[in-house]
Amino acid sequence: MTLAAWLKALHIAALAVWAGGLLALPGMLIREQRLASGDTHTLWQHRVSRFAYDVLISPAAVVTIGSGTALLFVTWPLQGWMFVKLAAVGALAITHIQVGRIIDHIEAPEATPSSLRTASIVGAASILIVLILWLVLHKPTFDKTLFPSWLLRGPGQSDLLFSSTLTPT
Ligand code: HEM
Repeated sequence: MTLAAWLKALHIAALAVWAGGLLALPGMLIREQRLASGDTHTLWQHRVSRFAYDVLISPAAVVTIGSGTALLFVTWPLQGWMFVKLAAVGALAITHIQVGRIIDHIEAPEATPSSLRTASIVGAASILIVLILWLVLHKPTFDKTLFPSWLLRGPGQSDLLFSSTLTPT
């Protein structure tokens, strides 16, 4: 297997854990908020959420972004869809941080994080994950004029992006 294939396998395995976790965890948090606080079951469930976030989902986010960045250098897919994908990944990272903040809030004694806020985070994460998957699997063509000119210039001011000499990925 080539380096690109290994990196892509790692990327897909890590993103499955990250995306799956971001979709599942808010549901668990809404359930925690509805249960009476302080009982053993709630405390145990809260520990599971904290463990999932700290030990599985956050490291998976780091591996997804690291392997994706390495893939950028190996496959060089610098096309319009990749820039839109990176913007969507940035927004997904913000929803990841929001999930962490909700877990922190639940730990505070006066915690009252609303279910609506948690539900809107899972809604945003779902839309972003579907958008990212559509972008990478469909690789739509975007008009060059949609992007600022500085983004389209490579080292030495050459017009690297959207160049017909690039190998299609
Ligand atoms: C900073 C974060 C990320 C970077 C830099 C990145 C970059 C890349 C690169 C360069 C490729 C190879 C593209 C190709 O060979 O055509 C790729 C593939 C892929 N990425 Fe990402 N990615 C990131 C995050 C994500 C996320 C969050 C998801 C999904 C939620 C995702 C889903 C995929 C999928 C499904 C593929 C395989 C596409 C294919 O083989 O056709 N990536 N990524």
